[in-house]
Amino acid sequence: MQIFKNFRLVGADFKGSQAKSAMLVDKGIIQWVGLQSKVPKNLKIKKTIDLKNQLVFPSFIECHTHTVFAGSRAEEFEMRNNGVSYLEIAEKGGGIISTVKATRKASSQQLVELTQKRVDEFLKQGVSTLEIKSGYALDLKNEIKTLEILKKIKGPRIIPTFLGAHARAPEYNSNSEYLEYLAKEVLPVIKKKNLSNRVDIFIENKFFEKAESEKYLKAAADLGFEITIHANQLSVSAGAELALQFMAKSADHMINLNDEIIKSYARSKTVAVLLPTADLYMKCAYPPARKLIDAGVRVALATDYNPGTAPSQDLSLVGLLARLEMKMTLPEVFKAYTIAAAQALGIDAEEGSLEVGKRANFICTESDLSDFFYSAGKMPEHQLFILGESTTTRQKTS
Ligand code: NIG
Ligand code: FE
Repeated sequence: MQIFKNFRLVGADFKGSQAKSAMLVDKGIIQWVGLQSKVPKNLKIKKTIDLKNQLVFPSFIECHTHTVFAGSRAEEFEMRNNGVSYLEIAEKGGGIISTVKATRKASSQQLVELTQKRVDEFLKQGVSTLEIKSGYALDLKNEIKTLEILKKIKGPRIIPTFLGAHARAPEYNSNSEYLEYLAKEVLPVIKKKNLSNRVDIFIENKFFEKAESEKYLKAAADLGFEITIHANQLSVSAGAELALQFMAKSADHMINLNDEIIKSYARSKTVAVLLPTADLYMKCAYPPARKLIDAGVRVALATDYNPGTAPSQDLSLVGLLARLEMKMTLPEVFKAYTIAAAQALGIDAEEGSLEVGKRANFICTESDLSDFFYSAGKMPEHQLFILGESTTTRQKTS
């Protein structure tokens, strides 16, 4: 058993802190947390860590990324900036498909190296748990390759998601044939090899449409996969509806929504994962965060880190845009990056808050909460603990 003592514990509402707190941790799991004066007596303490009156709050959970890919799409940014649309680029074989070509060519070793560097960038920012989607390979062999390399990544806990239904593979002439291939030949292998228990799909005009997506999601759900959906990003699509129908853990992007669907989300447990960096790069509207939160919908935030629509790993930028453009309050941003992100990944029984039985994953800092999600590109100096162990040396502000 180890004891962390002498810290200011941030409350679950992220509105203040409790002075002189302590936390007991055994094998990485929180056994007790509360006022230092109330620590249970007669315990065998092996190690005492004095946190010197710093603030302590749950570490960040980054719940939507496309971190495993090869190649670059930097020239596409210039094209888009000169007025060529994302869909036009995709129709000409650019966009997702150009990353697919580069990723298929890359060896496992190259992908491990590229991915590890990016994961280290997340870790430095206080991310203890990171979702990573496949979806830049689009065939059995290479989708498996991208999911398998995730087992070699060190640092944060990785939650892998199968996004074979990111775009239609170039070898197929119709979406329904491609989705049938995924359902019959790929999903069972992913399941058998235990490479992921989550299935994602990009539902959008010109990508996957309602009827074919519904059939695919049914096949995935029947195999026992949890569902998450790229929904209502570029248009009012069937994604948000289908997410509710399949009791998805999350529906992500969620920009084009009507009041009716917002009400239905408030009655559900599905988390709306908002990705403002992609909206910045795509020059599209920001999601209606205020309406969602005020209606009672669970809202999480993430980077959507990918080489096309969100080539930025910066959590501070996400929070800053959420505050500036989506009028989220600072406590709402913290909740969106901790407990709500855990709910979106279906791991809220294990992490996302500092409670007995959960992982001792936390950030410790001399800064104030108000220093976070304030400067783009700058996470205040802090130290990240995963399962009670310090994983980083203290991160300096850059
Ligand atoms: O979340 N929307 C689909 N997928 C990614 C973009 C992927 C890409 O352009 O490479 C997204 O924005
Ligand atoms: Fe995405």
